[in-house]
Amino acid sequence: MKDKVSLPEHIAIIMDGNGRWAKKRFLTKTAGHKAGAQNLRKLAESANKAGLKYLSVYAFSTENWKRSPAEIDGLMNLLRGYIQEYIDDTKKNDMRVMVIGRRDRISPDLREKIEYLEKLTAEKPGLTLVIALDYGARDEIFRAAKKFAKACGNGTITGDNIDEEVFSDFMDTAGIPDPQLLIRTSGEERLSNFMMWQIAYSELYFTDKLWPDFGFEDMMEAVRVYNARERRFGG
Ligand code: FPP
Repeated sequence: MKDKVSLPEHIAIIMDGNGRWAKKRFLTKTAGHKAGAQNLRKLAESANKAGLKYLSVYAFSTENWKRSPAEIDGLMNLLRGYIQEYIDDTKKNDMRVMVIGRRDRISPDLREKIEYLEKLTAEKPGLTLVIALDYGARDEIFRAAKKFAKACGNGTITGDNIDEEVFSDFMDTAGIPDPQLLIRTSGEERLSNFMMWQIAYSELYFTDKLWPDFGFEDMMEAVRVYNARERRFGG
């Protein structure tokens, strides 16, 4: 019999391998990203049903602007559609959606859609899906440091009450617990500038599966590995 799995509160995923998935099938990269987006929707639904509280995913990095205009357009259009589906679904869906990362380089129509969806789902009790878009951890830390310096300058915070927790409130993920588990698909074993502040103590799990093929059972396998490590190293 399989061990009972206990879900962590927060899982973060670097969704990698859409391009290779598409190449194997003689499809365009955008078709790979589309399969990746469909996979995310399914996985988030299953994770929500299973009772996961937070799922953070890396959808577009600050470095991804270097990709071809066609691929960037394809990804942004997928995101538009993805956000719209959640907007259309909010009545039946109990998920909350949040987007982290820079907002100033996102086209105004997509930005508006994102802000609308965030407001619409802010009080939802189910899974919080955190989508990292135009996101880089160094950029996030740097933006937080700038806001922090400003708050120090205008006296909102003073030297005596500064600690890591106070600083965390300046991050895009303010109020969200750190992930206990970080998963990266497609065989790459790098953090690629994803949530570096938040994953300081996370367990890391790497799998060769390409993102569009990574299903709920694969996520539960990662959770089992995480549980076993917790049992071995837990205090
Ligand atoms: C890496 O695959 C993946 C990305 C750059 C983007 C991830 C995006 C999605 C899963 C779809 C869009 C997301 C949403 C929320 C709608 P890659 O192209 O680097 O793969 P490769 O290394 O095999 O080429």
